[in-house]
Formats: sequence, structure tokens, C-alpha cells
Amino acid sequence: MKIIGTGSALPSKIVTNDMLSEFLDTSDAWIYPRTGIRHRHVISDEKLEDLAISAAKKALDNAGMKAEELDFIICSNVVNEYVTPSLSCIIQGGIGASCPCLDINCACAGFIYALDIAETHYQAGKVKNVLIVCAEEPTRMTSWKDRSVCVLFGDGAGAAVLSEGDNIKGIKLSAASATDKLYQIRTLEPTPYVTKEEQDIPLQMKGQDVFKFAVKASSGDIKYLLDGLGMKADDIDHYLLHQANKRIIKSIEDFLGQPEEKFPTNVETHGNSSSASCPILLDECNRKGILKKGDKIAMSAFGAGFISGAAIMEW
Ligand code: UT7
Repeated sequence: MKIIGTGSALPSKIVTNDMLSEFLDTSDAWIYPRTGIRHRHVISDEKLEDLAISAAKKALDNAGMKAEELDFIICSNVVNEYVTPSLSCIIQGGIGASCPCLDINCACAGFIYALDIAETHYQAGKVKNVLIVCAEEPTRMTSWKDRSVCVLFGDGAGAAVLSEGDNIKGIKLSAASATDKLYQIRTLEPTPYVTKEEQDIPLQMKGQDVFKFAVKASSGDIKYLLDGLGMKADDIDHYLLHQANKRIIKSIEDFLGQPEEKFPTNVETHGNSSSASCPILLDECNRKGILKKGDKIAMSAFGAGFISGAAIMEW
């Protein structure tokens, strides 16, 4: 398969670090050096489904494809206002497609997991055109009283249209269960049979553990793919990494011994938008003309689980 179109959509509300310090004991002087984030786009009265549909329409437009031509839609999402139906079903209706669709929850690594699921469908000869949409609103998962978590995230949606080709050279998925490091718990409807006390717990994170896992997993996944493909880190033109933290990206740069110019970022302006981060960055690089035909791209992401994934492709 190959990616033939990309799209993205961001909430209109921009929240700067200084705006956060109006109601939290935090500052730009703390946030920026530790994360590289200056501001983020935050859902206000928009609906995530509308951002997802907008990103999907832009990707179809970029690919020159009609929604009716799609054979499958994969949506990566951790939370949205619907528990059911799936967000992919809502997107399917919103863009006017009629193909089967599926939601996955692979946290921030969702785009890479979606690529892998799509590839399996291509290999089975079941699809010609696939739409991947990653839509996330992590700012609705955190407590806005918890300065250690809420300052890190932003919302948005990114999409990619796939068609037949052999541009995806390799995908590596990993998982290592560590559910106490990054999690959110929500209560379900009460029943006469549940007697234990339940309570909602907003997103909790052991930041330093996540940091160490992220660097190790991302570096390891990329190295595994490079070795398997007989490639060197120098052979890659662009490293499009999950935009969680500039220092994590810098550590991966150092591990691979590659120059900063090969690592485009938007964490400065978007924060961490979970699985939407990679396809939003891909779309921005695509539209800016940074990606040239034949360029080699490595993508990599990590998140709650822990899970991680990387992909190497030719543009
Ligand atoms: O998709 C995966 C998502 N998660 C990540 O990628 C997160 C990875 N981890 C990180 O990026 C870093 O661990 C953080 C940026 C989250 C935190 O940086 P840190 O250098 O590991 O800080 P820390 O958690 O060790 O906290 C240091 C201090 C603490 O104060 P004390 O105990 O030393 O007095 C915190 O209470 O900084 C304090 N602190 C803050 N201060 C001002 C924590 N958050 C803030 C804040 N503003 N927003």
C-alpha cells in the first residue's frame, strides 16, 4: 500500500502556557524547557467528530478520491462523547462512505497500528482504498487542576488515504503491559449487583517512567526496522515522531546520530495530541512540500499500555 493523501483539523481555541499559569501553579519557564510546548489547540464547543470528518474530507480531497471509493475506514481514538456507535461509523456517515469501519484504541501509537491493520487487509486482497483517521481529545481526559498532566496535551485529528502500492517497507508493533504508568478510569452505569465503590480517575501519569519507556521503545522499534531492511539511520530523509515532548525527540535523534533537520516537529504549537499527532505532522509536512517523491520516512509513536510502533515508508 501507499499513502496518497493526507488531511488534518485542529480546534480553533489556542491555549498558551501563560494562559495556563492564570489558573495553575505553572509557567512558560517550567513547561517550555521540559517539553518544548509553547501552546496547544484545545477543544471548546467543537465536537471531535466534526474535526475527524473535516480531516478525513481534506485527506480524500488531497488524494483526489471520493468517499464512495473507500473499501475500509479505520479510526484511532481513545475517547469521544460516544461510547457507541464507533467514531469510525460517525465518520463514515459524515463523509458519505458506505464501506465497513472499525475503531481501535492503541493510545498514541494508533496511527502505526492502523497502518499495520490496513496492510493486513491489503495482503489479504480485501481492499483497494483505505481511510485512516486518528482523532483525539486528551484535554477531556485530564484534570485541569493537575499541572503535571494537563499542560502536556492538545486536541486534533489527522487522516491519511491509502491505495495499492509497495511504499510501506516495514512496520513494527510492540506492547509491554504497564497499566499503572499512564491510565484513566471511568465509572460505568450502576447495577443492583455491583456493590463496590467506584470513582472516575482522570488521566494519571508517571512522567519519568513514560519518558524512559518512550525513548527506549521508539529507538528500539526504528533500529529493528532499519536492521531488518538492511538500512542505516542515514538512509532516512525524515523522522516523523510522536509529538509528546521535544526532549524525547532529541534523545531519539541522539540515539540514531541524526541531525535535527531530519526531525520536523509541531509539539511547540500543538502539544501531545495522542494518536492524531503523527498523521497531523505527516499532513503538515506533506502540505509544506517537505516530503519529496522517493524520500524515505520513518514514523514512530508510543503511549499508554505501554504500546509502541514504527513504520518505514517511501513517499
Ligand atoms: O504520549 C505519552 C505522554 N507522556 C509523555 O510523553 C510524558 C513523558 N514525561 C515527561 O515529558 C516529563 O516527565 C514531564 C514533562 C511530564 C515532567 O518533567 P520532569 O522533569 O520529569 O518533572 P517531574 O515530574 O520530576 O517534576 C519536577 C517538579 C515537581 O516538583 P518537586 O516535587 O520537585 O517540588 C513537580 O511537582 O516539577 C513540578 N511540576 C511542575 N511545576 C510547574 C510538575 N508539573 C509542573 C508544571 N509546572 N506544569
